[in-house]
Amino acid sequence: MAHRIVVGISGGIAAYKTAALVSRLVQGGNRVSVAMTPSAEHFIGRAALAALCGQAPVVDSFDSRFPLGPHIELVDGADLLVIAPATAHILGSCAYGLGDGLLPTLYLQSECPVLMAPAMSTAMWSKPAVQRNVQQLRDDGVHFVGPDSGWLSCRRSGEGRMSEPDAILEACMALLIREES
Ligand SMILES: Cc1cc2nc3c(=O)[nH]c(=O)nc-3n(C[C@H](O)[C@H](O)[C@H](O)COP(=O)(O)O)c2cc1C
Repeated sequence: MAHRIVVGISGGIAAYKTAALVSRLVQGGNRVSVAMTPSAEHFIGRAALAALCGQAPVVDSFDSRFPLGPHIELVDGADLLVIAPATAHILGSCAYGLGDGLLPTLYLQSECPVLMAPAMSTAMWSKPAVQRNVQQLRDDGVHFVGPDSGWLSCRRSGEGRMSEPDAILEACMALLIREES
C-alpha cells in the first residue's frame, strides 16, 4: 500500500546516502516529500532530490508554495516522518521542543510515527548531552535506527555511522506495517 512519507535531511556527511533511501521509498510506490536543512545542502543537492522524489525539496520555512507553512502542510496526513541523517543539532532541537528551523517544526507538528537515523562522530555520539537527548526522544515515543559502527568521515572507525539506506527502509516499513495492524 502506498504511504505518504516525509523525509527530513539534516546536515551530516551521511546526507548523500539519503538520496538512495528517497529513491527506494519512491520505487516502493510511496509519495515522498523531502525537507532539508540549509546545512544539508552542503552534502546533497536539491536537483538530485527533486528528480528522485518528483518535487523540489523544501528548505525554507517560509516557502511560498505552502501558504499555511511547510511545517503544517508537509506533515498533514503523513504516515511517517523519517529524519536521516539526524544531526546532534536536530536531536537536541527536537528533544527540547525548539521550533528553530523547518525540521524541528515538522517534528513538533507531526502526528505520525517519527523515525530518526542519527549520524555523527563517535565523540559526538558518546557525549552525555547527546545521549540525554536521544533518551528524551525515546521517552517521547520517537523510534531510532542505528547508528552503526564502522568507518566515519573523520577518518576513524567507531559508533556513529548512519545506518545503511536499506536498513532505514526496513525500519520505515516495519513502523508503517505496525501502524496499520
Ligand atoms: C564536513 C562536515 C560534516 C559534518 N557531519 C556531521 C555529522 O555527521 N553529524 C552531525 O551531527 N553534525 C555534523 N556536522 C556539523 C553540522 O553540519 C552542524 O552542527 C550544523 O549546524 C547542523 O545543522 P542542521 O542540524 O540544522 O542540519 C558536520 C559539519 C561538517 C562541516
